[in-house]
Amino acid sequence: MRTDIVHEGAAHLEYEIRHIVEDAHRIRATGVDITWENIGDPIEMGEPVEPWIKEIVQELVNSDSSWAYCHSRGVLQSREFLAQEVNKRGGVQITANDILFVNGIADAVDKIYDLIRKDARVIMPSPSYPTHISNESKRGRYTNITFPLDPKNNWKPDLENLRNHIKYNEQIVGIALVNPDNPTGMVYTREELEEIVAIAREYGLFVICDEIYAHINFNKSLHLSEFLGNDVPGIALRGISKEYPWPGARCGWLEILNGNLNADFAEYVKALVNSKMMEVCSTTLPQMSIPKIVGDPRYPDHLRKRSEMFKKRAEEAYNTFKDIDGLIVNRTSGAFYFCVVFEDGILNDRQTLPIENQKTRELIESMVEGVSVDKRLVYYLIGSAGICVTPLSGFHTSLKGFRITLLRHDDEKRRDTLAKIAENVKKYLQS
Ligand SMILES: Cc1ncc(COP(=O)(O)O)c(C=O)c1O
Repeated sequence: MRTDIVHEGAAHLEYEIRHIVEDAHRIRATGVDITWENIGDPIEMGEPVEPWIKEIVQELVNSDSSWAYCHSRGVLQSREFLAQEVNKRGGVQITANDILFVNGIADAVDKIYDLIRKDARVIMPSPSYPTHISNESKRGRYTNITFPLDPKNNWKPDLENLRNHIKYNEQIVGIALVNPDNPTGMVYTREELEEIVAIAREYGLFVICDEIYAHINFNKSLHLSEFLGNDVPGIALRGISKEYPWPGARCGWLEILNGNLNADFAEYVKALVNSKMMEVCSTTLPQMSIPKIVGDPRYPDHLRKRSEMFKKRAEEAYNTFKDIDGLIVNRTSGAFYFCVVFEDGILNDRQTLPIENQKTRELIESMVEGVSVDKRLVYYLIGSAGICVTPLSGFHTSLKGFRITLLRHDDEKRRDTLAKIAENVKKYLQS
């Protein structure tokens, strides 16, 4: 090429949850049968789609209008419905024009960070969901600015640390949260959220809250509109991927809260809307399904049952790992992930698991050269037990561990896989 063509921040685009899949496919090619416990897709993991939800979507397929483009902000009727849902909660009040449909939150996250000035920064927790942190840092080859979630204290956020980062770094313009959180399964309390908003208010920041798991919680998870107040701008990110669940629909939306409070923020929101216009619009049919499905009297019960299901599975995972020496585990409060963290220093670059197949063993030995100690464990787990989990170091943290999902729908297979992971972790630590 006559000049460099790759954006200087491209190296920041790391998505370990998917990268590990590519590596696992190479291992599979040596003859290993793999159980995938890394991807957050409930359908892929065997959860059946509710027949009544399918029927509604089938009816929509028969309507020609669901095949058309829609308004760039999204189908008006669906935006009106969603604005009403926000307003019913009694916090910040919005209109249909404050909803912007996107092709999945992951699609929006890219734009949300791209349209912020290059030298303005958004702070977020660590461990951190890779799509947010990679997109935030790719803009200027930055190191991430994060505040820690503490695995020794139920993943509670260190808000003192958050405040200090903001106080001493004038470039920070926003705080991004995922609530309930991926990968930790932690749900922020009202007190924590109000303190975070108080910090945003004090320093003139906006708040982004990824609420893709908002309706998978084991007690209560507050929506941004319920704790933001009327004097801080914010964007809540919602979607149907994890809720119906329909991840393949690629349908999510932004709820712009207090969008006209401040000229700078209003201009930023306008840029988000304009950038959607460049793409014409987001997928029409899934948007049309929202008032019909979310507004159906069966929907609250559907959400309740799924939350109960994941709560039981979270307890199952906790009980599987809680008594293993050297591990830090927490009961989760929402979403469908579970993290196992290793005490400092107990993983090293000599530990292994037995692998009989010579080809597989040689491949793993070449793959573990120079990788982080938790990724090393993950490779051995794939090679020896045929189970693929995600290393915690892929979530932009110095903590070492791994994340599993609670999604495997076949109860026997799920329990068996959990037991096998635990047994292999013990073996690995003793090797
Ligand atoms: C925190 C978080 N946000 C967003 C997404 C992706 O959402 P969508 O399917 O709407 O792009 C995921 C997927 O795992 C996620 O964990």
